[in-house]
Amino acid sequence: MRILVCGGAGYIGSHTCVTLAERGHQVVIADSGVNSSPRVMPRLQRLVGAPLSLHRVDLRDRTALDALFTAYRFDAVLHFAALKAVGDSCRRPLEYFDNNISGTIVLLRAMQDAGVHRLVFSSSATVYGEPAQVPVREDAGLQVTNPYGRTKLVAEQLIGDLCQADPAFRAANLRYFNPVGAHASGLIGEDPAGEPNNLMPYICQVAVGQRERLRIFGDDYPTIDGTGVRDYIHVVDLARAHVDALEYMVRADRSFTVNLGTGRGVSVLELVHAFERACGRRIPYEIVGRRPGDAAAVYADPTLAQQLLGWQAEHDVDAMCRDAWRWQAMNPQGYRSTTRRATPPRLRRSRAVGARLADAY
Ligand code: NAD
Ligand code: WQD
Repeated sequence: MRILVCGGAGYIGSHTCVTLAERGHQVVIADSGVNSSPRVMPRLQRLVGAPLSLHRVDLRDRTALDALFTAYRFDAVLHFAALKAVGDSCRRPLEYFDNNISGTIVLLRAMQDAGVHRLVFSSSATVYGEPAQVPVREDAGLQVTNPYGRTKLVAEQLIGDLCQADPAFRAANLRYFNPVGAHASGLIGEDPAGEPNNLMPYICQVAVGQRERLRIFGDDYPTIDGTGVRDYIHVVDLARAHVDALEYMVRADRSFTVNLGTGRGVSVLELVHAFERACGRRIPYEIVGRRPGDAAAVYADPTLAQQLLGWQAEHDVDAMCRDAWRWQAMNPQGYRSTTRRATPPRLRRSRAVGARLADAY
């Protein structure tokens, strides 16, 4: 299939592009660059062994999107494009509503007008808020605890309404738990701008000496060691789930919503110790107060993904830490790092009218 990957230059999208290409699909990326570097492209092309097109397009730009849909006959869209920082969303809710919700609406309209009726959407376990019980099943109550979470819930609902209204439309909502890790090559990974919000990239930056110590938000939760418990999932397993979901959606001709997690809860301290084993260094930390809005324990019941897609996570926490550490050690400054292994290949001209290749090549 020929797939439009919105937000494909970002962390999860870039890993999914590799898996799509490995499974024989043709990939075209649309990304505004708001949270990505064009330097991912030569590395992606190296991994894929073929040219990939990146179009610097903001989903809210209907003209640019239409030009893409006209230039390519897409079979389906994978929609990763969103702002994702919870704290930032509390400070700038309108920016999040506009980028994530308006962006999704413009994309859905462009898809409908172009006759493209297959969508895989990046949702999040954030739609469960503070779940009443764990493991969390897909039929658990949905709850909004911050503006970012609202954008994910609203987008799921908009997509659901469109599927009801347009009998041709099919969508897969994938509710990710806590994606971590990196491609085993160390060429692509998570590259947060500024101070990381999430645990794993913070640990990585402490391990590489960019930050002095990790602050652990609370050790008085009712969990195994008092620290927060989450369901960390290797990004390569997550990438594979997208392609499985896409292929299942097309084959079974149906819409669905699934959790993507391992089903295993891991505490902050357990993750810290696993990372110490992976990198062979101590991770200095201090215990500080709880972070407002954090739940004690959130982990998935991934049974439905197994039943529908035949998918389950394969990488354990040690593999997640090993691969996250390899990426960080090879690229201490993320994509700003220069590695000799990532030589840019020859450029290819964009075929889409009105869209242009990222200029930073
Ligand atoms: P990311 O920021 O690395 O990737 C998102 C990409 O989308 C970036 O490359 C960004 O430049 C692009 N983008 C954002 N707004 C855009 C717009 N309006 N038009 C075009 N491109 C735009 O984030 P990620 O971690 O790869 O997350 C991907 C998706 O998964 C997001 O939708 C996020 O909400 C969701 N998600 C992420 C996590 C997580 O912990 N990483 C967990 C659950 C869900
Ligand atoms: C994990 C654990 C923290 C940082 C977030 C979003 C969610 C989804 C995934 C997008 C918690 C603790 C963290 C630190 C710490 N994203 N922690 N020190 O909060 O489970 O989920 O990312 O959809 O919507 O809310 O992930 O990595 O921030 O935290 O002690 O410096 O690590 O308290 O227990 P979270 P996280």
